[in-house]
Amino acid sequence: MVRRNVAAGRLHFTTDVEKAAHFGTVQFIAVGTPPDEDGSADMKYVTAAARNIGKYMTDYKVIVDKSTVPVGTADAVKAAVAEELKKRGVDTPFSVVSNPEFLKEGAAIDDFMKPDRIVVGCDDEQAALNMRALYAPFQRNHDRLIVMDVRSAELTKYAANAMLATRISFMNELANLAEKLGADIEQVRKGIGSDPRIGYDFLYAGAGYGGSCFPKDVKALIKTAATDAGIDMKVLNAVEAANDAQKHVLGAKVKARFGGDLAGKHFALWGLAFKANTDDMREATSREVIKDLLDAGATVTAYDPVAIAEAKHCFPNEPRITYADSQSAALDNADALVIVTEWKEFRSPDFNSLKAKLKHPLIFDGRNMYDPKLVRAMGIEYLAIGR
Ligand code: UGA
Repeated sequence: MVRRNVAAGRLHFTTDVEKAAHFGTVQFIAVGTPPDEDGSADMKYVTAAARNIGKYMTDYKVIVDKSTVPVGTADAVKAAVAEELKKRGVDTPFSVVSNPEFLKEGAAIDDFMKPDRIVVGCDDEQAALNMRALYAPFQRNHDRLIVMDVRSAELTKYAANAMLATRISFMNELANLAEKLGADIEQVRKGIGSDPRIGYDFLYAGAGYGGSCFPKDVKALIKTAATDAGIDMKVLNAVEAANDAQKHVLGAKVKARFGGDLAGKHFALWGLAFKANTDDMREATSREVIKDLLDAGATVTAYDPVAIAEAKHCFPNEPRITYADSQSAALDNADALVIVTEWKEFRSPDFNSLKAKLKHPLIFDGRNMYDPKLVRAMGIEYLAIGR
């Protein structure tokens, strides 16, 4: 997509900040906001971009915060731009808009091209008109643009991720309960998801959520609430604690099954990325599972369709982990299989050859990929999440 648009002259890249600030009425700030040590979002890149725009702009600009930024950032951006204009002794008009991004990794282009909603937070009509014109090609048959005030738009981004993270942590907690009570969380999921007020999406129990967004945004919202509003986010604190614990559920199951000590045991591990269709291992559950297995004395052979290079960075000089170039090769000499990521290609393995390769015909499934009845009927012991 990039190559095609560059060739057509519609897209170019520059490191010349002055040129960039002159080009186009709408100026997107889409830089990183990594977590600070205390969990709050680090705003230095956003502020630097805002200052650069203020330094060089010569006509009306709509400055758009696309980065995930705490409530109040648009005001800070406005102040930074105004300060730069004042230094230059000019009074060029500009608007600041909050336009949070809701796309998912691995589905970024599709989510962007076919958005459920486009949230635009702005306090003036001219900016709203510019944003409406900009997004007109993505509206499809009905209006997906939701215009609101800036602070509400900024909070919407965190609220969406926090709500989704809450659903997952709640389902994970229910899964742990279901397991003890002899219920099956997958059946419970279907039972509650059929209520349109609840819905089926993001209701999958598993070995914990990871990635660069949910963990970071939940932390940042807890922090903003405490420092800027003096509010203790009780639900979100629990969501975070539940997820931190959930990342150890799989390791604990393995240890419990082998009597606590994994010395001399060797495990095949399928899936390193924090979710399917990405090589991203930021806050990935696999990191915790691998650490738990190694700490208990085991060795691991891991396979992932794309994240092996990334895993080598995460675990440098670690001779107790080796990597296989196929899911089947990972099973060689393994006592059991541990599944951490829900890759499509793990969905229907050759259970007969899997059973023949493993020393114990045993699968620990952190993503509930299989029908327990079917797997057990093949003579394979199956320990999943909440079933
Ligand atoms: C998330 C949101 O889904 C996007 O809407 C948002 O734009 C993005 O963060 C962001 O803030 O940039 P992403 O982190 O790419 O997207 O991945 P998700 O598909 O949301 O998955 C996050 C984690 O939750 C994964 O570890 C996944 O395995 C886990 N998950 C997801 C579950 O455990 N259960 C579910 O039912 C769904």
